[in-house]
Amino acid sequence: MLRVVASASAAAVASAGAVVGYGYALPPRSCACETVRAGERERAYERQAASFDDAVASSEYWSGIERMRARLVYDARGEVLEVACGTGRNFPYYDPMKVERVRAMDASGNMVEEARRKLSTRAGGTTVKTTVTRGDAQRMREVKSGTVDTVVDAFGLCSYDDPVGALREMARVTKRDGRVLLIEHGRSEYRWLSNILDHFADAHAKRWGCYWNRDILALVREAGLEVTKKSSHHLGTTFVIEAKPRAAST
Ligand SMILES: C[S@@+](CC[C@H](N)C(=O)[O-])C[C@H]1O[C@@H](n2cnc3c(N)ncnc32)[C@H](O)[C@@H]1O
Repeated sequence: MLRVVASASAAAVASAGAVVGYGYALPPRSCACETVRAGERERAYERQAASFDDAVASSEYWSGIERMRARLVYDARGEVLEVACGTGRNFPYYDPMKVERVRAMDASGNMVEEARRKLSTRAGGTTVKTTVTRGDAQRMREVKSGTVDTVVDAFGLCSYDDPVGALREMARVTKRDGRVLLIEHGRSEYRWLSNILDHFADAHAKRWGCYWNRDILALVREAGLEVTKKSSHHLGTTFVIEAKPRAAST
């Protein structure tokens, strides 16, 4: 038995070593250019909408992402705007004692349809008054400035054409004492890992609609948001961030 455990451990260490070695050996990409255009990525989400929950449910459970979502969304209060809501995976976690209303939106018509369907189910729905509409997180003209207590964005920054523009929109609509809650994935502080993400970024974007190698903290700072809490997970590729519009710090 001891021999089996020792062999399995040695195999795991050797495989991990091979992956790290592969990451170091890959020639770094000369530019951070993204070649898969927005239209193609949008079509990827339209394609995936019906199977999205089945595709991510078990990995989100085992990786702890489901718990991170629940923890993040538990902090939402008041008037909530959830951007790029997808199929509405966060809906069950809003606390009806703290949240007055959730306005959720997504650019994909099929995702909006899935999210609306989920609202009508006991397992996926919520008792919080929730509406889902189609819209662009980069241009939310229908939302007045400084009117939202909590903006929630889960895994949206990898998908926008202009993530900094979307974050600026989130900051614009947030009240001075409001919060922007983010759970995102992006490049790691480990060079070998980011090298691998960079190398396969275009292929991943084509298939899944998102760029998994964006520098999340740099985007948040560039948008002028002040990070008030942050943690990173999964070798620094998953980020849980609470931020506020910079003007609110004075
Ligand atoms: C990776 S999925 C995440 C979905 C959901 N937030 C979740 O956590 O499961 C990214 C979502 O962003 C949406 N999206 C992409 N560009 C968008 C935009 N400009 N405005 C609003 N939603 C957008 C896609 O349609 C897709 O539903």
